[in-house]
Amino acid sequence: MKIDKIYVINLLRDNQHIIDKLETLPIEGGCEYFILDATNGWKVASGEEKKKFNFKVADWWKIDHEHNFYNREVTPGEMGCGLSHYECVKLGYDEGHETILILEEDFIYNGEWPSKETFEQLPDDWSMFNFARRGLWSENEEQVLGDDLVRVGYSYNNQAYLVSRKGMKEILDSDYLNNVIVNDEFYPALHGTHDRQDAIDKFYNPNFRYYATRKEYFGQESNPSRDSLTEFTPEYVRELDTNTPYKRDFNILDDSNWEEWSNRYINPQLMNGEFDLITDEPAPHVYVFPLFTKAFCDELIELGEQQEWTHGRHAFYPTTDNLLDVLGMKNIYNRVVNDYVRPYAIDRFELEGDTWDHLSDESFIIKYPFDEQAHLGVHHDFSNITTLVNLNPGGFTGGGTYFPKYKCLVNPKEIGMATLHPGNITHKHGARPTTSGTRYVVVSFITNSDHKGFEPKQY
Ligand SMILES: [Fe+2]
Repeated sequence: MKIDKIYVINLLRDNQHIIDKLETLPIEGGCEYFILDATNGWKVASGEEKKKFNFKVADWWKIDHEHNFYNREVTPGEMGCGLSHYECVKLGYDEGHETILILEEDFIYNGEWPSKETFEQLPDDWSMFNFARRGLWSENEEQVLGDDLVRVGYSYNNQAYLVSRKGMKEILDSDYLNNVIVNDEFYPALHGTHDRQDAIDKFYNPNFRYYATRKEYFGQESNPSRDSLTEFTPEYVRELDTNTPYKRDFNILDDSNWEEWSNRYINPQLMNGEFDLITDEPAPHVYVFPLFTKAFCDELIELGEQQEWTHGRHAFYPTTDNLLDVLGMKNIYNRVVNDYVRPYAIDRFELEGDTWDHLSDESFIIKYPFDEQAHLGVHHDFSNITTLVNLNPGGFTGGGTYFPKYKCLVNPKEIGMATLHPGNITHKHGARPTTSGTRYVVVSFITNSDHKGFEPKQY
C-alpha cells in the first residue's frame, strides 16, 4: 500500500531523534513526512498558547463508574493530544492525500512491517488501520478477518495508524471539535464499538471502518504511569528525562540507584510531600493516598505470579498470599515503608518519639480470585499501623476493605493507592468478596521499635 505522507505528533522530543527513527521504517522509496508541533493542552488550558481550532472539551465524559478512566474529566494533556491527532487528519485531507500514517513522537518501530497478504486482506471500505492498538474488555467483540487482521471492538493506543481519505473525511465530519475526548476513546466511539453508549451516540458513523493488525508493530518509549504527556505537563516530563534517563530494562528488584527506583515506582504526588492535598479520609484515621505508580503494581503482580502461592499462612484468617521476602522484595519494601510511608504516617497520626525512627514490616501480596478465596472475615491486625495497596483496580468487581464500626467500604479506583489505618483495637476490618476477576493487594503490618512481640502476626 502506498503511503502518501507521514505525520508525527511531537510535543517534546528532538526532531532529529524522530527523523532517525523514521528512517528505519521499511517504506519503499521513502515517504514524505511532517513533524507536527503538537498542541500543548496544558498551555492552551492556561491561555499561554493560542487555540488552533475552536473546540469544546466534552463535559459529559466524567461519570460515576467502576472504571476509573471514566471517573475523571478529560485532562488538558488528553485534549492537546486529541486535537493534535485531529490536526494531522485535517492536514492530510487538505493536502489531498489518499493514505496517511500518523505516529506519536515516542513510537518505537519493532522492526517488522505487516505482510503484503494482510494489506491485501484489508477490505476496500477501510477508514483506519491501526498497527499498535490494544484490545480492551468489551461486549463489542472483534471480527477476525485474517491471521493478522481484525475489525476492532473496544480498543486503545494510537501510536501508529493509517487513515484513508474516506476515513479522514469521516473524522472531520464528526462532531469531535464540539466534544473533545482523548483520541483513543474517540475512534472506537466513531466506529460504534465503544463500551459507553453516550460516546457512541455522540460520534457513531456506520461508514467508519476501523481495522487493526493483531500483532503490535509499534511500541512506545514513554511509560504512561510515569511520564505520559497526557497525564503530566511537558515541563514535568522534560525534567524527568534530564534527571533520570529512561531505562527500558528497569527492574523492580534493582534498587542500586534508589533515587531512580523511587522516581519510577513511587507516585510523584507523594514525593512532593503535599500530604493534605493528596489524602482522603473516608473514616476517622483511615487515610487513602497515592503510594505507587502503575509500573510498580504491574511488575509486582507479575513477580507474584511467578511464585507458587501459599494458602493458610495465617491460622485463623487464611489468605492466598506470598511474603515479599519470598519475592526478594523484603529490603526494598522496608525502604519504601521507612522513606515514604513513615513520614506520611507520622504526619497523619501526629506520632511522637524516637520509637518511630525506624519501622519494621511484614508485607505480603494477597490475591482474592472471585472463584476461590474471595474474601477475608472481619479481624484486627497485629501491628501498630497497616497499609493496604490496591494493585489492580479495574481488574475485578466487588472487593475493598470494610470497616464495620464506621460503616465504611474503602475501595479506591486508582491503581497504586494505599489505605493506611491503625492496626489493632480501633479499626477492625475485613475484605469484601471479589465478585469477578482477581483482586491483588499488598498488605503491610508495620510496627515501631516499642512493639511487643516484635515479629508481627495476624490473629
Ligand atoms: Fe487486616
